[in-house]
Amino acid sequence: MTLKGKTMIVTGAAGGMGKATVALLLEEGANVAGCDLHTDSLDEFNGHPGFMAYQGNLLAEDTVRHIFKETFDRFGSIDGLANILGIAQSATPIEDCSLDDYRKIMDVNMTSIFLTCREAAHYMRKQQQGKIVNIGSVSTTRPRPGLQCYVASKGAVESFSKALALELAADQINVNVLHPGPADTTMLGQFSGEGANVDDTKKEVFEKSVPLGRLLKPEDIAQSVKFLLSEETNMVTGSVLHVDGGRNI
Ligand SMILES: NC(=O)c1ccc[n+]([C@@H]2O[C@H](COP(=O)([O-])OP(=O)(O)OC[C@H]3O[C@@H](n4cnc5c(N)ncnc54)[C@H](O)[C@@H]3O)[C@@H](O)[C@H]2O)c1
Repeated sequence: MTLKGKTMIVTGAAGGMGKATVALLLEEGANVAGCDLHTDSLDEFNGHPGFMAYQGNLLAEDTVRHIFKETFDRFGSIDGLANILGIAQSATPIEDCSLDDYRKIMDVNMTSIFLTCREAAHYMRKQQQGKIVNIGSVSTTRPRPGLQCYVASKGAVESFSKALALELAADQINVNVLHPGPADTTMLGQFSGEGANVDDTKKEVFEKSVPLGRLLKPEDIAQSVKFLLSEETNMVTGSVLHVDGGRNI
């Protein structure tokens, strides 16, 4: 399985799962445009001829347009898009959720996906091929109290991806969703409620919820993103891949 010479855009590239995905795709021979609000943690890839870092907010239409154009101009195609960006919600009773918090979570987790997928479709339709992977969350099937906005945003990602899979199928563009289980990244701690002990919550709540007995590693997610971006999945579209150690059961 190789992605040699294919060009991939990865969002949330500086985060736990994003960075592991960038590293793996580069190792597989792909060109990678890694986009994030802050790109300092991607500095180690800067010498790589197939790597470009983009620092920007993926909620800005112009930024998204610019990223896709620059990537296409430099590498000549856009073969894959892995939407890994996202923000957590600190567990909060609904009565205490502000409208601003709700809008921010929906915007980052869903509007960014609308904007990047729209731009990807523009390039991929012309190429008559392309692969899109949008990251959701196991919480869409196994919600936890206090995460109602986050769960809603990830449910929207799943529905949107299925609708888009159908819409783009005639142009040989695959759109799939990957739902991670609890993964050992900085985000996991951010799901804890106010005043909760983050390390205890990770161990006692999240780790214990995984039948296979450990938290996911960013590399576990990266391997499955790579699979969904590869030619091994040419006939897979509109699917949901659970990479969660069995948490969804
Ligand atoms: N960590 C978990 O346990 C877990 C579980 C299920 C799903 N997920 C999902 O997996 C994905 C990756 O999670 P992670 O654990 O690697 O998180 P992370 O916080 O380490 O990484 C997320 C990245 O997204 C970036 N980002 C946020 N808003 C952005 C914006 N507007 N523009 C550009 N970049 C932006 C952040 O800067 C960050 O680098 C997310 O979509 C998350 O919701 C995570």
